[in-house]
Amino acid sequence: MCHGVCVDENLWAAYDTMGPTFKQHAEDSAYNAHYDRPAVLAALGPVAGRQVLDAACGPGLYLRELLERGAEVTAFDASPVMVSLARQQTAGQVRIDQAALGKPLPYPADAFDLIVCALAIHYASDRAAAFAEFCRVLRPGGAAVISTQHPVVDWLRKGGSYFQATLETDTWHTASGDQEVHFWREPLSALCTAATDAGFLIEKVIEPVPAETMRERYPEDYEKLNREPGFLILRLLKPARDMLVNFPGLETGE
Ligand SMILES: C[S@@+](CC[C@H](N)C(=O)[O-])C[C@H]1O[C@@H](n2cnc3c(N)ncnc32)[C@H](O)[C@@H]1O
Repeated sequence: MCHGVCVDENLWAAYDTMGPTFKQHAEDSAYNAHYDRPAVLAALGPVAGRQVLDAACGPGLYLRELLERGAEVTAFDASPVMVSLARQQTAGQVRIDQAALGKPLPYPADAFDLIVCALAIHYASDRAAAFAEFCRVLRPGGAAVISTQHPVVDWLRKGGSYFQATLETDTWHTASGDQEVHFWREPLSALCTAATDAGFLIEKVIEPVPAETMRERYPEDYEKLNREPGFLILRLLKPARDMLVNFPGLETGE
């Protein structure tokens, strides 16, 4: 299918090409290590003893943090290269599947207490289906924490209509050369509607600021991200059954 830019629908292909270069970058980059991960882990809250699904786990940097915090973790990613890096990272301690956001996931209903999906939902061509699968595999009362690029920032960078879902392309200048990365840009309301139509309640909308560790390590990014948004985090709740009395539309899917 063509959406302005003609690309393969498998937007994760860029991660197969980047491979270990992405892992090296994300270990200590301003936006991953000092901005996204601290804010998402804080939004996730205590994970010890909880069944946590890391959706689109990449090279396993979240897995490391979650295991250190005592979580029982399961993970998946669509990129075979990222699955292999994540398996190396966790030395066989974790079940890591090759599976795609927006497609049926290989887990039973109500299997997880928490889901983390960091910086990946914008690569799923069918975000509604991705949220529906998250809702299915979460237990009632469970929560999903989703981080993504801030839609207003993407619109300011790319122009055009804020309200139109658009397939965009960035060029990343990586240590192993330039890499085109395709992603979906859509208005905030469309992302929220995809989540709520799937059965979620939005518990928190977070516009993170950098961790203090960024101040000395990346002073320019620190100053910029304290002035303007970069990423957005949604904390979503799958309502417990007794909550549905207050939200009857959710019960029937109306
Ligand atoms: C920016 S990386 C984030 C990795 C990890 N969540 C983190 O924050 O360290 C995006 C990841 O999403 C994966 N990805 C892209 N499209 C996907 C899809 N449709 N289904 C599952 N994973 C996908 C990529 O392979 C890549 O590992």
